Amino acid sequence: MPQTILCAVGTRPEAIKMAPVILALKACHDFDVRVLNTAQHRGMLDKILACFGLVPDIDLDIMRPNQSLAGLTARLLTEIDRVLGHEKPALVLAQGDTTTVMTVAMACFYRRIEFGHVEAGLRTGDIDNPFPEEMNRVVAGRLASLHFAPTEGARQNLLRERVPDDTIWMTGNTVIDALLSVADHKPSLGIDLDETKRLVLVTAHRRENFGEPLRNICGALLELLARHDDIQILFPVHPNPNVRDVVFPMLDRHPRVILTEPLDYVPFVAAMQRATLILSDSGGVQEEAPALGKPVLVLRHETERPEAIEAGVVRLVGTQTDVIVEAVSRLLNDPAEYRAMARGVSPYGDGRAASRIVDVLKERLC
Ligand code: UD1
Ligand code: UDP
Repeated sequence: MPQTILCAVGTRPEAIKMAPVILALKACHDFDVRVLNTAQHRGMLDKILACFGLVPDIDLDIMRPNQSLAGLTARLLTEIDRVLGHEKPALVLAQGDTTTVMTVAMACFYRRIEFGHVEAGLRTGDIDNPFPEEMNRVVAGRLASLHFAPTEGARQNLLRERVPDDTIWMTGNTVIDALLSVADHKPSLGIDLDETKRLVLVTAHRRENFGEPLRNICGALLELLARHDDIQILFPVHPNPNVRDVVFPMLDRHPRVILTEPLDYVPFVAAMQRATLILSDSGGVQEEAPALGKPVLVLRHETERPEAIEAGVVRLVGTQTDVIVEAVSRLLNDPAEYRAMARGVSPYGDGRAASRIVDVLKERLC
């Protein structure tokens, strides 16, 4: 009888980053692979799963409008425990640092089920930034018995926390597997852009940026549009009301701003490919854009992903209006500076992370 591996996903980035792992596990036929969707995200996640041809075996339909962290955590823990009770997996896999991942790890701990952490070892060292993700990944890492670290830096972070060396595997980040599976097929954006303008792609959703920081970011975009009449902004807006209620009133009427619903993964990859540069507080975008040769200015004050910064292809610009405007303007105005940031390096993976993870699991469980 093949052993059961339960793969849990809950939000958009988890679906993108777990899809290559789930597909590789299913392709090897050595395991009974079950997919649990907590649906911490509803619409955004369903679209991503469909994009990779994945149909979850279990759906907890957890999302509520404007959900609180405590309410979300409580509902997840109760429901995941119930699933573990009837699925009885040999191992559970989850990726990253969302509330879904933290509660999956805790539920496994309470049931004495082995938990494997994909994208293990990312740290800023500051539990307030990003909030609550830094604490989520510390908890998940403490409870995991298998750690799939994307980079040597992540492996070193785990070793510093006394995680045993022989439970850590450096695999690369599975997001690069997902990205290459789409980017190599000339994806289409499906939105009419002004071909004479340079495209600035923007995303924002971090909780630390709600309120004043997000208003500052939108203010910076308006100032950039005023200073550079050859740019157009594409901003797929996260459905969180804390984001929409700021972004739409501030930017909706500008003729060179396109605000859209979150894009499906294929058109979003096309948007990154078409962009001149990207402004984002996203984790995944910091990993993907360098591999596509696109500069990213990160709308945060710290990052758990230092490798692309060290390579000089991603820069932290924070959330102050004048700092963002100056940093973007320099890149738009100075071709040499732009070229230095648009080199196309991939510090986060080579597209073969999922197969490395499957190899470890075969050795461990078969
Ligand atoms: C969550 C993760 C964050 C991750 C992000 C990826 C936590 C605490 N946060 O943040 O780490 O970077 O996902 O996008 O786990 N909503 C919808 N439809 C959707 C998704 C969200 O309407 O498909 C709205 C709902 O009102 C929901 C709210 O957004 O209550 C917040 O969703 P939640 O998952 O709690 O937080 P995110 O900010 O999306
Ligand atoms: N993404 C997408 N559509 C969008 C915006 C982002 O498919 O409209 C993808 C992006 O390519 C990346 C992932 O979503 O792989 C990042 O998710 P998000 O920024 O929501 O979360 P984070 O990575 O910050 O946890």
